[in-house]
Amino acid sequence: MARRTAFGRDLLAGQWAAAEFGALCRLWPLGAPVPYPAQLHGTELLMEYLDEPDGHAAPRLAQLRPGPAQLRGLWDQLVDALLVLTSEGLAHGDLSPFNLLVHRGRLVLIDLPQVVDIAANPQGPAFLARDVRIVTDWFLSHGLPAQLAHAGRARVLKGATTLP
Ligand SMILES: Nc1ncnc2c1ncn2[C@@H]1O[C@H](COP(=O)(O)OP(=O)(O)O)[C@@H](O)[C@H]1O
Ligand SMILES: [Mg+2]
Repeated sequence: MARRTAFGRDLLAGQWAAAEFGALCRLWPLGAPVPYPAQLHGTELLMEYLDEPDGHAAPRLAQLRPGPAQLRGLWDQLVDALLVLTSEGLAHGDLSPFNLLVHRGRLVLIDLPQVVDIAANPQGPAFLARDVRIVTDWFLSHGLPAQLAHAGRARVLKGATTLP
């Protein structure tokens, strides 16, 4: 794997696919907004395709310029989603407006192979704090009132510190 031979690359790809499949299988039954995990086959992960009515993939949050009401609705959905993750002791680990899709009005978290165990990983709380900072900054720069942003961020960080 260190030499990145074709075989080594396949092993690594298989590990990433298995890690992402494991995360989706854990989060989907909790009602977290993630794509439905269909199957894992070697290095290939098959999941629900989040599409627009015209067949294109749902847009990333980063591409959208939501109005105030939609922005607030998406922020509330994001806080709820992160509370599901933190209640399981998990942080996304690479959260950004590029790894959030807006599927017919519903915010969906994608790209989860590196999901982080907040308690077991010594860097867990730092990953969570970074995730939350990156998305909070995006919402603030797109006009979310600071009071709402800070209240949501505080709820998520508090959810992680009150783990059993
Ligand atoms: N379930 C899905 N349905 C529709 N489009 C998706 C889905 N998963 C990923 N995509 C699209 O593919 C892009 C890359 O996927 P992602 O999982 O973020 O991989 P990476 O960032 O590692 O390349 C996303 O930004 C999104 O546009
Ligand atoms: Mg991505």
